Amino acid sequence: MRSEHATPVRPQEQGSAGSAAAVAHPNIALIKYWGKRDEQLILPRTDSLSMTLDIFPTTTRVRLAPGASNDDVTFNGVPATGEAHRRVIAFLELVRERAGLPHRAVVETENTVPTGAGLASSASGFAALAVAAAGAYGLDPDATALSRLARRGSGSASRSVFAGFAVWHAGRGTGTDADLCSYAEPVPVADLDPALVVAVVNAGPKAVSSREAMRRTVDTSPLYGAWADSSGDDLAEMRTALRLGDLDAVGEIAERNAFGMHATMLAARPAVRYLSSATLTVLDRVLQLRRDGVPAYATMDAGPNVKVLCHRADADRVAEAVRRAVPDGAAHVAGPGPGARLLNEDGR
Ligand code: DP6
Repeated sequence: MRSEHATPVRPQEQGSAGSAAAVAHPNIALIKYWGKRDEQLILPRTDSLSMTLDIFPTTTRVRLAPGASNDDVTFNGVPATGEAHRRVIAFLELVRERAGLPHRAVVETENTVPTGAGLASSASGFAALAVAAAGAYGLDPDATALSRLARRGSGSASRSVFAGFAVWHAGRGTGTDADLCSYAEPVPVADLDPALVVAVVNAGPKAVSSREAMRRTVDTSPLYGAWADSSGDDLAEMRTALRLGDLDAVGEIAERNAFGMHATMLAARPAVRYLSSATLTVLDRVLQLRRDGVPAYATMDAGPNVKVLCHRADADRVAEAVRRAVPDGAAHVAGPGPGARLLNEDGR
């Protein structure tokens, strides 16, 4: 597969001022983002690298509401509440400040990914919101600026701006200069026909948010520094493996990076443990697939679900093996997906 260097459609090219709709897909990190150096600007401690998926899109429409005294935010038709609501409002404030427009907005989001289950719903959510809000408020960001903007909603959203594989540069320092140098961009990939089989063992919301878990890990885990250091080496090796189209190397590096991240959490005080017995069952199955000669490698995020990297040609077999291992669960096959983009008036 060649990486698609698609840039998002620029806001002024489509849609009428004051209203815009956008679609974005989740991404799964093969080199994880885990730990911030600046909570306010969402500046990470390490670089990360991901594959944007072609399943579970989020569609968001933003309509300015001049004269309204509050933003009206809904997820799948239900008014947003709590932390999710607060984060969308904070994001809109940032866009209003940049646009120099005071208007409140109506924000309607349709999510097809189970929310809050470590399946990156905040990545697709804030990437779609960044594109739609930029369009509605008349901003004209290029792809880099859009990635930086999406980052302010949720770090991993910076990568969902792009199709296929993307690297998010941590950048250096603090303040405005650092803000400018922390963004994602596409990664060159040689011929590789990858799939990620998303094994959903539990689609319910998680007990500890990734934001809180990340903070606790950085603050208290004695293993954090060692993982962050080795993650830099993992990224360098991952870039080479992608450039060579070596799926086994990509999988081995991704798996060790994810296990390392979970080790840092297990050593946090108190421990954060997202992995459940069903997770371990899937991990055993992945190992068995490898023993049977099927290249398959696991990665896990802030939840019990497992994403299994394999060749596209093996994806159905891998998905079937996962379903048999966890009969109560589900397995979805994803390939590399498109970057975030504005939708036409007719929703295409
Ligand atoms: C485990 O991007 O959700 O999925 O920036 O606090 O919103 P915030 O965190 P978020 O964290 C994602 C963490 C991860 C790994 C990754 O996607 O790189």
